[in-house]
Amino acid sequence: MQIFHHVESVRAALKTERAAGKTIGFVPTMGNLHDAHIELVRIAQQHCDIAVVSIFVNPLQFGLNEDWDKYPRTFEADTAKLRAVDCNYLFYPDEKEIYPNGMAEQTRVIVPTMTDVLCGASRPGHFEGVTTVVSKLFNIIQPDVAVFGKKDFQQLAIIRRMVEDLCIPVEIIGGEIYRETDGLAMSSRNSFITQEERPKVNVLNRALNDAKSAIQAGDRDFFALEDTAKQTIVKAGFKVDYFNICNSKTLEPAANDDTNITILGAMYTAGARLIDNLTFTLSSEKK
Ligand code: PAF
Repeated sequence: MQIFHHVESVRAALKTERAAGKTIGFVPTMGNLHDAHIELVRIAQQHCDIAVVSIFVNPLQFGLNEDWDKYPRTFEADTAKLRAVDCNYLFYPDEKEIYPNGMAEQTRVIVPTMTDVLCGASRPGHFEGVTTVVSKLFNIIQPDVAVFGKKDFQQLAIIRRMVEDLCIPVEIIGGEIYRETDGLAMSSRNSFITQEERPKVNVLNRALNDAKSAIQAGDRDFFALEDTAKQTIVKAGFKVDYFNICNSKTLEPAANDDTNITILGAMYTAGARLIDNLTFTLSSEKK
C-alpha cells in the first residue's frame, strides 16, 4: 500500500492508474478503522480495480464543544488493517494540506434543508463540514465509486443529494451496518462507552427494532411509537437526542402511506453520542 500526504502526489499516482484503464473505488474515513470500514474497502474492491482510503479527522465537521481533539487516532493499527485487505493507496493529509487558506476562509458546500434535522439539529454546521471535505476529497481522488457506511444514514443521504445536485461523476454505494453480537452498531466512538454502560447501550437498537415491528404489524401512530422508544431509552439511563420515523429519501417525518421507511435514533452516554438506524420497505398490502 502506498501512502500519500499531499494532494499533488496522490493525484499523479491515480492519474497513472486511470491512464492504464483502472477504475478507482474510494472510502473516505476519519481513521480508527474497524470491521465495518474494512467491509467498505472490500465493497470498493468488488466494484473497482484500485481501492483508495483517506484518513483525515476533519476539524470542519466538529463543533467547538465536540470531540475532535479526543477522536481516536490509531494510524499504525489502521495501516496494518488496510495492508491486510490489500488496499492500494492511503491518502493521509494534514490540516494544512486540506485547508491551505485556513478553515474560516474555506469555500463551503451546503446541502440545504435535510442537513438541519436529526443530527444536523444538534450538531449545527456538522454536515456543511462533511459535504465540504467530501467534495474536496472527490475532487482530489476523482473516484468512479465512493463507499459510505449506512450507519451514518443521514450523511449518506446528504452525500447522494450533493452528488446529484452538483452533477459529480461518482457512483455512491452504501455499506451495511456492522453490529456487535448484542446489536450495537460498530463505531469509532464506541471506545468512549464505559464498562458499566456497555451492557445497556444496545437499548437504542432494541428500540429501533421494536418500532419497526410495530409499523410492520400495521401501527401508523408514528408519534406515539417515537414517544415509547424515547421512554425506553430514558429508562435504560440514557439521554435521547432524537428518535424519528422518516421517509428514507427525504428524511422528512414519514407519512402514513410511505413505503420506504427509515427510523433513526441518537442518544448520549456519559462520554459518547451514539447513532443507529433501520431501513425497511412496507409492501403496499401492509400499508
Ligand atoms: O463518516 C466519516 O467518517 C466522515 O464524516 C467522512 C465521510 C470521512 C468525512 O469526514
